[in-house]
Amino acid sequence: MNILTFDSDEKLNEAAANIIIGQIQTTPRAVLGLATGGTPVGIYKEVVRDFQRGMFSFRNVTTFNLDEYVNLPIDHPESYHSYMNTHLFNHIDLPASQCHIPDGNASDTAAECRRYDESIELSGQIDLQLLGLGHNGHIGFNEPAHALIKGTHVVDLAEETLEANARFFDSIDDVPKQALTMGVGTILKAKKILLVVKGADKADIVHRALKGPITTDCPASLLQTHPNLIVLLDSTAAGKLS
Ligand code: GLP
Repeated sequence: MNILTFDSDEKLNEAAANIIIGQIQTTPRAVLGLATGGTPVGIYKEVVRDFQRGMFSFRNVTTFNLDEYVNLPIDHPESYHSYMNTHLFNHIDLPASQCHIPDGNASDTAAECRRYDESIELSGQIDLQLLGLGHNGHIGFNEPAHALIKGTHVVDLAEETLEANARFFDSIDDVPKQALTMGVGTILKAKKILLVVKGADKADIVHRALKGPITTDCPASLLQTHPNLIVLLDSTAAGKLS
């Protein structure tokens, strides 16, 4: 595991964006696993800026998002479809047929999960998976549990997650209670994982995830088993690491 700490948000975003861009430059047909949430917003901004400078193209890239809420219309401003369009897809040359987000409005969610896993399989391996970290140690929407699920599945969101995501909605009651998420097995199969964490409120969970026991109670702790994990932290998120 390679942990890098940054003293400014700007430098952290730039470093993360450079890893994503470097992946595309060295592997033009890269398969990228993408994340949502507050953390990657500034990273996508950097990526878009460098794309607009003509440094690289998404023409041959394929993307798979980690997750999507269940039963939230895709044009709802807080759907992860809207998020990705706003922060990345609307600004780059990625063909729509090459970007994938689970369909949280599918009438048969089990079939949708199978379909999503099959498209990931068909594209080969994810070259680079971008991840944020939930306050309870979730990655994607894989919540702490007695057992974790390998592939894409429907998940009941933890109370802590509903509370954390309430800031994006009018009230906590408006936060969808379920989501579709890529499983931990798929995440760990990525060739390279880029975990980015910001903020003092994540310092404890960063410590648990990276230095604590490997346990399904903290899904991110399983990342310790990955052979090619890069962790980018701001100095406050790194505050509990010695
Ligand atoms: C969200 C997403 C995760 C994200 C995490 C942290 O709910 N499902 O993919 O990494 O929670 O989000 P944030 O970056 O806003 O703290």
